[in-house]
Amino acid sequence: MERTHHCNELRKEHVGQIATLVGWVNSTRDHGGVIFIDLRDREGLTQAVFRPEEGQEAAEISHHLRQEDVLSITGRVADRLEGTTNDKLATGEIEIVVQEVKILSKAEVLPFQLDKELSNEDLRMKHRYLDLRRPRMSRNMRLRHRVTKAVRDHLDDAGFIEVETPILSKSTPEGARDFLVPSRLNPGKFYALPQAPQQYKQLLMVAGIEKYFQIARCFRDEDLRADRQPEFTQVDIEASFVNTDDIIGLIEGTLTRVFRDALGIEIAAPFERLTYQEAMNRYGSDKPERRFAMELTDLGDVFANSSFKVFKGALDKGGVVKAINAKGFACVTTGQINRLTELAQEAGAKGLAFIKVEDGEWKSPIVKFFTDEEKAALTEKMSIEEGDLILFGADKWETVCEVLGRIRLEVAGIQKLLEGNTDFDFLWVVDFPLLAFDEEEGKWNAVHHPFTRPKTEDLHLLDSEDTYGQARAEAYDAVLNGYELGGGSLRIFEGDLQTKMFDILGISKEEQKVMFGHLLQAFSFGAPPHGGIALGLDRLVMLVCGESSIREVMAFPKNNKGMDLMSASPAEADFKQLREIYIQTTVSDKKKAELGA
Ligand code: AMO
Ligand code: AMP
Repeated sequence: MERTHHCNELRKEHVGQIATLVGWVNSTRDHGGVIFIDLRDREGLTQAVFRPEEGQEAAEISHHLRQEDVLSITGRVADRLEGTTNDKLATGEIEIVVQEVKILSKAEVLPFQLDKELSNEDLRMKHRYLDLRRPRMSRNMRLRHRVTKAVRDHLDDAGFIEVETPILSKSTPEGARDFLVPSRLNPGKFYALPQAPQQYKQLLMVAGIEKYFQIARCFRDEDLRADRQPEFTQVDIEASFVNTDDIIGLIEGTLTRVFRDALGIEIAAPFERLTYQEAMNRYGSDKPERRFAMELTDLGDVFANSSFKVFKGALDKGGVVKAINAKGFACVTTGQINRLTELAQEAGAKGLAFIKVEDGEWKSPIVKFFTDEEKAALTEKMSIEEGDLILFGADKWETVCEVLGRIRLEVAGIQKLLEGNTDFDFLWVVDFPLLAFDEEEGKWNAVHHPFTRPKTEDLHLLDSEDTYGQARAEAYDAVLNGYELGGGSLRIFEGDLQTKMFDILGISKEEQKVMFGHLLQAFSFGAPPHGGIALGLDRLVMLVCGESSIREVMAFPKNNKGMDLMSASPAEADFKQLREIYIQTTVSDKKKAELGA
């Protein structure tokens, strides 16, 4: 069964040699009784031809070959006949004239064709092992390996050591729900799968490891999206005696290495840094997509005395009026405007005022409220020209930024502003707020996580609830093309400051002891100043591969109901298994039907 070459190896200089190849039948063609096949392995394709005069038995077998049969072929490497070469194929100048064929394994008719894009993702997932045979998926898997290897190489060179931390662990808050695992040996008790190795890596700093990394599996029970899976991988990093610039520099070096080793692309570092405030103000997002402009413009001074009460009202209440200019999108249809308005409302807006500039006229229900001066100032500030569509938001600062940020991305999607764009735009977002007030829960939450260090110059803002919202974190996010690639921070390493943070977050002393007692105790035995970051490896690989879903770069992902359709998991457990772990399920058949489970 040994092969002499892989299927992407033979060239003109091999003509005349005898070669043995193994692989799958990618396609078969019958040319007047002579069978041609393309044999495929993970490296590529080679054409094989079965001529009776060179291999009688092989030629007979060739008539019964089916797509995806697994073969070993031995034959003579020959020039293709003139006019039949294929310059799209690396092996397109030669073919193998088969003298001997062995069928290693037969294939039934496949549930879908491998050489066509398939929109039915469920079907792809059900037979993922077939889906992964496609060249695109095979390439993605191999790029993933290259990326991971480049990360490991770079961090190893920088003196970091990889330490594994437990999967059966204790709950650590990262903002999602935990997956719980019942303990048979400790009846009624549960492990939590790690949402991230956050506490362990901080404890490794107390342990004197100094430079830690891990290609770490993380588990979060949250609603799934194209860039979110319940089980995903982080490049998790922590280091002692470092400042923000050290971590940022380390990640810039790592990403430079990744893009060089995996794609042969030189990226420009250092990356630009935007404050959270500026990112929100200009792009309406803390992970700005900057490969097109359409920036948010503040119009507070233009409409300070407006007779349009929506604008005036927002400004009087301390809010803002902002707008974006969708260049050349005055052709927007009523349906599209309605859809954009709905989207704005879903994001918390009360409406989405607009102006279409068509035939030299401003077409809009609101221009009647504008004075000539306001129109002139608006034209100048927003560089308004024929064909433009101006979209407005008037509300609280956060709401307006958020709403216009989403509308901006939606409009860019409709206008296909990024079609064919292969640029990589890296940046850092820094100076995040430390705390955010949750109106529903009526309490303060950590924007990043409870271990994030406040900026030293903002520490005094934590003395009064009135100023909690103004305190900034020593935190940073790495952003690539509108995706949050990673996030990290310097950490609190003093027990009393950590306790103060827990208090602010409304975690009772009792809960603090139960949930974080070990961490607080560790801090009392000499904790070094430390900080770190975690990159979402799946997102990084997705962007390296030019894909728009992380499912395309994970071998066996879950669908957006968290199911693995191939192995049909999660599945029911039998009574005996459940009894052993002291679990009784209470979900009724009716409830299951309701939930579609
Ligand atoms: P954070 O929660 O920001 O930080 O996560 C870091 C990065 O992990 C990726 N990520 C995900 N990828 C796929 N599916 C998910 N469900 C998912 N959730 C997060 C993102 C994100 O930027 N312990 C901190 C890091 C630190 O402070 O060092 C943490 O986990 O790319
Ligand atoms: P109204 O006066 O409520 O009929 O609103 C007039 C126009 O302003 C409509 O196009 C609304 O969608 C829009 N609008 C209303 N409230 C807001 C708001 N807070 N921000 C932006 N546009 C708004």
